[in-house]
Amino acid sequence: MDEITLRRPDDWHLHLRDGAMLEGVLPATAAHFARAIVMPNLVPPVITAEDAAAYRDRIIAALPEGAAFEPLMTLYLTEDTDPGDVRAAAASGLVTAVKLYPAGATTNSASGVRDMDRVRGVLEVMAEIGLPLCVHGEVTDREIDIFDREAVFIDRVLDPTRRAVPGLRVVMEHITTAEAVAYLKAGDDSLGATITVQHLMLNRNAILAGGLWPHNYCLPVLKRERHREALVALATSGFERVFLGTDSAPHPLHKKEAECCAAGCFTAPVALGCLAEVFEAEAALDRLEAFTSLNGPRFYGLPPNDARITLQKGAPIAPPARVETGAGPVTVWSPGRDIHWQVV
Ligand code: NCD
Ligand code: ZN
Ligand code: ZN
Repeated sequence: MDEITLRRPDDWHLHLRDGAMLEGVLPATAAHFARAIVMPNLVPPVITAEDAAAYRDRIIAALPEGAAFEPLMTLYLTEDTDPGDVRAAAASGLVTAVKLYPAGATTNSASGVRDMDRVRGVLEVMAEIGLPLCVHGEVTDREIDIFDREAVFIDRVLDPTRRAVPGLRVVMEHITTAEAVAYLKAGDDSLGATITVQHLMLNRNAILAGGLWPHNYCLPVLKRERHREALVALATSGFERVFLGTDSAPHPLHKKEAECCAAGCFTAPVALGCLAEVFEAEAALDRLEAFTSLNGPRFYGLPPNDARITLQKGAPIAPPARVETGAGPVTVWSPGRDIHWQVV
């Protein structure tokens, strides 16, 4: 097979940033995706319904002429979040999910949650109205090895929270471990997960072997090969509660190639071609559409897109090395091997 047509994909975990960066990176997503769950970790964060409405307007204003793209907004959960504001934002259709950042776990998470008991009231409202909680699932305890932080989070935070708030719909975002795969599979219909492109294609050697590779550094950090294999097996299996969330996370070049490199891979321009490569290698191209275009809408209770997108296979493609933005150049992530598929 050297051509495949899919329902137009959605990206269930995306960073669009703001201002000049937003303007620079939005076209890459709008070119391939119909909708995206837009992360709220701006500085300052998108906390209230009012913040989300204003951010949504800025995204729509930054869209290229004629683009058909719908941002699905999220609220950044804090210990002061007002359950009434969340209820109203969901009822009006303004927000599609609420995002949990454990305080200090990742980029711009300082205003996140330290004590889950302090957000219990908000979570109970969300369970009542069926509003999903998107979770950055890593503990922040300095004593826990960074490669273990996801698995420990599942045991210490995620599972107790789901037991304490029955019916809460949860998306385990950007899962990276065999432990997360097992927990997802053992869960019921209230539990879903997203996987990124880089976690399907690379293991931790891609950060540390032969030099230090900042453009492969993201959080949760890439793991061992056996974890990557578990993610690929899950994504390509047709399992219904897993879907694409690229976590495309642009940072200007000077923040990546720095003494302290910012976490995040800018994958939006190459994500779909890379996924076709992954699914083809598993003889699972017939299941790519479920992962990119069907499972996510099913979990979120939205219709799949009617529009279609076609990918073709040919000679290795040469994506742009970087995208120029008003906030500086952003390096386009590369899997470090030839990619033969692209959206046409
Ligand atoms: C994200 C970012 O840059 O905002 N970075 C990342 O490494 N994934 C934050 C996040 O999704 O955790
Ligand atoms: Zn995250
Ligand atoms: Zn993210």
